[in-house]
Amino acid sequence: MSARICPSILSADFANFDSELKTISESDLIHVDVMDNHFVPNLTFGLATVKRLQELSTRPLDVHLMIENVDKWAIEYAKLGVFSVTFHAEATAEPIALAQEIRRSGSRAGLALKPKSELAEYAHTLQHLDQLLVMTVEPGFGGQPLIPSTLDKVAAARKLIDQSKLECWLQVDGGIDSNTIALAAEAGADTFVAGKAVFDSVDRNQRIRELRALAEQQT
Ligand code: DX5
Ligand code: ZN
Repeated sequence: MSARICPSILSADFANFDSELKTISESDLIHVDVMDNHFVPNLTFGLATVKRLQELSTRPLDVHLMIENVDKWAIEYAKLGVFSVTFHAEATAEPIALAQEIRRSGSRAGLALKPKSELAEYAHTLQHLDQLLVMTVEPGFGGQPLIPSTLDKVAAARKLIDQSKLECWLQVDGGIDSNTIALAAEAGADTFVAGKAVFDSVDRNQRIRELRALAEQQT
C-alpha cells in the first residue's frame, strides 16, 4: 500500500502561506482546516483564503470543513476546484446528498467523524464517499495527543471498506507523528494528516518522507 501524507497548514505561518507551501512540496495532499468558531471553538480562514491557496499550491488541496451550515458552504469550496472537500457528519442531516453534490462539482467527497461519533450510524454512507476521515483527536486545535481508542474505529472502518470492496480512502487526523503513524497504519489508515509533526521539523520534506516510510512499513 502506498501511504498518503497530508501536512496540515493549521501549523504553518498564516501570514506566509506562499513560502510555507514551498517547504512541503513533497506532500501528497495539502490539508486545509477551515474552522468557524461555532462548530469548533477555533477560527482559521474561509473561502477567499482557500481560493488563493488553490491558486498558489502545486499540490492538491484536501479541505477539511469544521463549520456549521455545511449544506450551504461545502459546495462553494468544491466549486473552487479543490481536490477534496470533507465535511463533518455531525454538521449535516443529509450526508449522502451532500457528498453527491460535492462529487457533481468535481471534487472528491469526504465524511469526517468526531471521536465520539459512531461509525455504525454512517456505515451506509461509505459507498457514496471518496474518503472517510476518522478524527483521532477532538477537532479544533493542532498539537493534541492522539486518542488511542479512536484507532478501534479506524480498524472497524477498514473492515467495512474492504468487505464491500470500496475505493474509499481512510484518513486519520490529529496527533499523527513518528511514534503514532505506524499504529494508525496498522489499524488500516492509508491517508495521514500531520500538522505539528511536519511543521516543527527543520527539513519538512524529509519528515514527510520519514512518515510515509513508517506508514508503509506496516502494510
Ligand atoms: C484539528 C485539525 C488537524 C490538525 C492536526 O482539528 O483537523 O488537521 O491540524 O494537527 P496535529 O497533527 O498537530 O495534531
Ligand atoms: Zn484537519
